[in-house]
Amino acid sequence: MFTKERFLWLHVILATFWVGGMIFLSLVIAPYIKDKPFRDEAFQEVGKKFSLYGTMLTLSLLFITGLTNAYLLHGGLGDRSILEKLGVFFLIVIVSLVHDLWAGKKALHSEYHRKWARWLGLINLLLGFLAVYMGVRIRLGL
Ligand code: HEM
Repeated sequence: MFTKERFLWLHVILATFWVGGMIFLSLVIAPYIKDKPFRDEAFQEVGKKFSLYGTMLTLSLLFITGLTNAYLLHGGLGDRSILEKLGVFFLIVIVSLVHDLWAGKKALHSEYHRKWARWLGLINLLLGFLAVYMGVRIRLGL
């Protein structure tokens, strides 16, 4: 049932939801709602949903499937590239939690927190791209 190719497949599906979700938010949702009267409410509702399915659920499952990939495909965490990716992953978790639980939450009534939420969101998108790149490097044995 739980074969190595199915774990890698699940890892890639989760990665597409996480990174794809952030791209969709930045390029489609944010530009559409930014000048609408319901902007703040929409950002809060969309933000809460992506925090639940993205930060809480998807990042947790990426960690579990990632570690499983490391053991099933590479015999553990011996490779420097896998440890480096784990480091980037923990950075993604910290930035996500600060974004979701501090900046995003306070953004409703504060331009200062709205700015922080925008910057933290952009940083997390770039870290997401880096995590995918590191996954490809691990795959290629680099
Ligand atoms: C935001 C978090 C993450 C994203 C977006 C992500 C993305 C990806 C992607 C797209 C691949 C497939 C690369 C390919 O097959 O060419 C991959 C592979 C891999 N990931 Fe992740 N990953 C994340 C977190 C993690 C974590 C926490 C670990 C734990 C050590 C991990 C370990 C691995 C391993 C070992 C592979 C290589 C599997 C192989 O040899 O094909 N990943 N990752």
